[in-house]
Amino acid sequence: MGRSEAEIERLIRQSGLYAPFTRRLFEQAGLGPGMRVLDVGAGAGGVALLAAEMVGPSGSVVGVDSNPEVLERARPCPPGRLDQRHVRRGRRRRAGAGPRLRRRGRLVLMHQPEPAETLRSVAAMVRGGGIVACQEYNVTSRSMVAFPPTPLWDNALGWIAAALERAGVETEMGFKLRGAFLEAGLPEPRMELNAPVGGEPRWGGYEFAAETLRTLLPLVERFGIATAEEVGVETLAGRLREEMVASGGVGKAPEMVGAWAPRP
Ligand SMILES: C[S@@+](CC[C@H](N)C(=O)[O-])C[C@H]1O[C@@H](n2cnc3c(N)ncnc32)[C@H](O)[C@@H]1O
Repeated sequence: MGRSEAEIERLIRQSGLYAPFTRRLFEQAGLGPGMRVLDVGAGAGGVALLAAEMVGPSGSVVGVDSNPEVLERARPCPPGRLDQRHVRRGRRRRAGAGPRLRRRGRLVLMHQPEPAETLRSVAAMVRGGGIVACQEYNVTSRSMVAFPPTPLWDNALGWIAAALERAGVETEMGFKLRGAFLEAGLPEPRMELNAPVGGEPRWGGYEFAAETLRTLLPLVERFGIATAEEVGVETLAGRLREEMVASGGVGKAPEMVGAWAPRP
């Protein structure tokens, strides 16, 4: 999705919109005080911060990412929330695995050419009984509808889905998580699907859609999906908001599917 400042901002906004679902996944997976977490593909650190809150001062969280720019952004977190030493640079780093180690990743497998293989190599770093937890999107046009249908929302979310698909991103990774867990040699995962839905003026979905399109705009143009004028990214959030409020309906942002299982 790019390495720009706009993408980092988008990751932060995305984290806010989806944080309740990630917290719920952590709760269901049994994350609690004193546990050790490795967040693979940590991005700007939203998920790692949430995990740090839940494991408390007696636990630890290490975030890893292959993009050094986003890690730079994640570093200066307030002490007591996510200490600088919890965020390390670099690619995957083999952490000392213990029985209480939890490993989680959000929105990472959808970008991998072989998600099950990535999951297998990630799970190999967790000792038996440790939990492997993932959250991934379903980000197709049919998963991001407005009710009643509204033209701008349908267009904007359709452009996002088309650009990701043309770029080779797995747009139904959420539903494919079960298969990936089983193929990776993990037990049958428990799963849950959540999606942000809203129609009120203050809903964060309009900005989320516009910022996602801002990041994807070069691809949208390159693939001939829409022109910059058609997208009108600077005013898009406002226009989406106006349209939705006028329709009296609701829009649905991408579905987030969670899956978790203990490593045998
Ligand atoms: C869409 S972002 C999600 C960030 C974060 N997990 C969240 O939910 O806010 C995906 C992140 O995974 C990172 N990433 C992708 N492939 C990776 C890999 N093979 N190893 C480590 N990080 C990876 C990217 O650099 C990016 O920051």
